[in-house]
Amino acid sequence: MFEKRALPRREVLYLGLSSLIGVIANLVNKTHEPSPPDPLPRQEGRIRGAIATRFGIRIAANAKVAESSLKARAATKGLIYGAASQYKTLSSNAAFTRRFLEECAILVPENELKWGAVRPSSDRFDFTQGDWLARFARKNGLLFRGHTLVWHAYLPDWFRETVNRQNAEQFLTNHIETVVKHYAGQIHSWDVVNEAIYPPDRQPNGLRKSPWLKFLGEDYIDLAFRVAAQADPQAILVYNDYDIDYDTREQEAKRKSVLKLLERLKAKKTPIHAIGLQAHLSAAETRFNPNKLRKFLEDISSMGLKIMVTEMDVADRELPYDYKIRDRRVAQVYEDYLSVVLDEPATIAVLTWGLSDRYTWLSKHRARPDKAPVRPLPLDRDLQPKLAWHSIASAFDSRSLTVF
Ligand code: G3I
Repeated sequence: MFEKRALPRREVLYLGLSSLIGVIANLVNKTHEPSPPDPLPRQEGRIRGAIATRFGIRIAANAKVAESSLKARAATKGLIYGAASQYKTLSSNAAFTRRFLEECAILVPENELKWGAVRPSSDRFDFTQGDWLARFARKNGLLFRGHTLVWHAYLPDWFRETVNRQNAEQFLTNHIETVVKHYAGQIHSWDVVNEAIYPPDRQPNGLRKSPWLKFLGEDYIDLAFRVAAQADPQAILVYNDYDIDYDTREQEAKRKSVLKLLERLKAKKTPIHAIGLQAHLSAAETRFNPNKLRKFLEDISSMGLKIMVTEMDVADRELPYDYKIRDRRVAQVYEDYLSVVLDEPATIAVLTWGLSDRYTWLSKHRARPDKAPVRPLPLDRDLQPKLAWHSIASAFDSRSLTVF
């Protein structure tokens, strides 16, 4: 997902030397990395009198808003903060669950609503884990997101032998109707179509060469939104994608294709309400251009679409071993990115892809060569806030919009 870039020579030397020192340090000292000290004391608190509205959270005039949690700070600016998590984590780690409920106002199942999880066979749906998470959200007053209805990845094994040009529309429609109706009324927003743009595939309009494109052509996107809207007229319907954050040739091309797709959908009156910026960022990437990102967000907003940051994390794979250096850089990236995105009034929510470094897809998919545990999220492995937590908090605090 992250593209390679040319680092300046001095930085290469610096990173190379630091990594070497890291590998040696790791070999010498196999003990668990210490958590860095918490730079600011965390106070306890809850949001009282918070009312979720379609595009945000409104705080009642008499609400006692705590200054501590991310969800409370977000809510005072009309924003929703939350995170992705998995059934196996929330059902087994009570300490994590407590922290999740302290910090988050919205939960998104990391995998449990994807085809690969919900469709054990071509004629069966299994909602066991999704239902557990929906109940968990309801019982604990969390909003609940749906992720995702149409994606090229994490499809079940039977898909390849079973779905074809003749039956693809029937499969797509039936899947969306069944899943969306099953959770209708409980979902804040659905990622209806995920990652449909991928210019390197060299398809017309920068579209990804997914099975859906192959079987149905571009219209599968419009169809998916229409079926979802009928099945749950309340849910916010989202187009979600990654690698639209940096000032690189590839990401500029992708932003262009995404904008054109959104324009085509709006012209067809497709029921789409928001874009999801996944925001899987990389701490070693320096080509961040606030003006380019700001312009992209303005273009989206001028189409009448809302903006959600749906999967934010900051990979530290290419940074030095020293966790203090990594934490500072990761926090800086959160701050730089969020200060731009939160400046745009159309932004309604920020979700991180996980809450604690203990549970992140990056441990497996972007592991560090020196084997040091990755640190991409707001809380460390011991559930303590890191500098990244404080960057997110201060980005929320600095937003000029309030709901009072
Ligand atoms: O399904 C098996 C399960 O039966 C088994 O118990 C488990 C043991 O490890 O493996 C299971 O599947 C894994 C699945 O996550 C559930 O844990 C897959 O191997 C693994 O590849 C899968 O990874 C997920 C990936 O999407 C693919 O679905 C990551 O956790 C998840 O963080 C990642 O999330 C994606 C978003 O959906 C879209 N945007 C990018 C983001 C990161 O890639």
